[in-house]
Amino acid sequence: MIYLDNAATTFPKPAAVQRAVSQAIKKYGANPGRGGHELSLRTSEQVFVCRKKAAEFFGASSPDKIVFTQNCTMSLNYVLKGILRPGDHVVVSDMEHNAVMRPVFSLSEKGIISYGMAETFPGDFDKTAAAFKKCIRPETKAIICIHASNVFGTVLPIADIGKTAHENGLLFVVDAAQSAGVLPIKVDEMNIDYLCLPCHKALYGPMGTGMIVFGKDAPLPETIIEGGTGSDSVNYNQPSFLPDRFESGTINVPGISGVGAGIDFVSEKGLERIHRYEMNIIKMMYGELKKRNGILLYTAEPEDGFAVPLLSFNFEGLSSEAAAEKLNGFGICTRAGLHCAPSAHKKFRTLNIGTVRVCPSVFTNHNDAIFLLKCIEKIAKGKQI
Ligand code: ALA
Repeated sequence: MIYLDNAATTFPKPAAVQRAVSQAIKKYGANPGRGGHELSLRTSEQVFVCRKKAAEFFGASSPDKIVFTQNCTMSLNYVLKGILRPGDHVVVSDMEHNAVMRPVFSLSEKGIISYGMAETFPGDFDKTAAAFKKCIRPETKAIICIHASNVFGTVLPIADIGKTAHENGLLFVVDAAQSAGVLPIKVDEMNIDYLCLPCHKALYGPMGTGMIVFGKDAPLPETIIEGGTGSDSVNYNQPSFLPDRFESGTINVPGISGVGAGIDFVSEKGLERIHRYEMNIIKMMYGELKKRNGILLYTAEPEDGFAVPLLSFNFEGLSSEAAAEKLNGFGICTRAGLHCAPSAHKKFRTLNIGTVRVCPSVFTNHNDAIFLLKCIEKIAKGKQI
């Protein structure tokens, strides 16, 4: 099997991540923060170590700025429903995933907030940042935007957009689903208040792990989940401090341990080195696909700094789902359809057909890419499996 669906979740996970998860079950088996006994204290220490690694990785001002969640969608819901109040307006991009669009749309349908959509200009950071600025109104509370499109790989200039947000007194929320572990992100340097991300994609953690990284001056959102935290238990009020405010209930210690090992894996290999390696695979694929008849590509050639390593394409006259099915017949895993991002598909005029998406990881090798290209050639020539 050749797995090229790493934008949905990376597979395989590094051996060190697998070991960390299994060791956590064996060694860190008590509930952290819930007991004074040795096993509970040891488990709390293990969680703290992972929190510290995450804080360093994303340039957070302290480990308690890291809140562990189940996924990026949950992180975004905590933040958006926690900061937005009646009458607020927000600005989003025209490439958001439904993890942003559905909460924003639901709040707007209920008459609580309104929103504007900034046009993005792939490859033109200045024009994109200016477009966000143009959408700001007196009642705008926040800018919420995806860092890199999960469908087309387009990167948004989040440092520039963050600067605009803070210059205008706005909160800045970033959906880093496709960029965390892929591009360097430092929350405070980039004026990010709430960085929402999955840990199971390019951080190589297990599925069911996500995170919010709080900027140093980010206001504390209201809560949508309350409950026991093992702290200040006499008080019926939810704690007003991080990370406890957003970590009610028993946390996923094996998952968090895997995330810690995933962050070490990326740091040791080098984020930039991994990125360069994957970009070379994508650039090679793009170059080859461009030469082939019957293949539709939607973006300009992937360029360093402006794209993350993933690619969307179609076969002329074949639905994306049928194409992915044929690739699956060759043992190649890709994702077809709309990738939960109708806005991005609308922008690239593929809403009616979707696309086939391929995304390598550090474990993808050159031969995998060559095999994919050969299979694409066969499908394009109408050969049956
Ligand atoms: N958001 C993930 C994807 O793009 C699951 O496939």
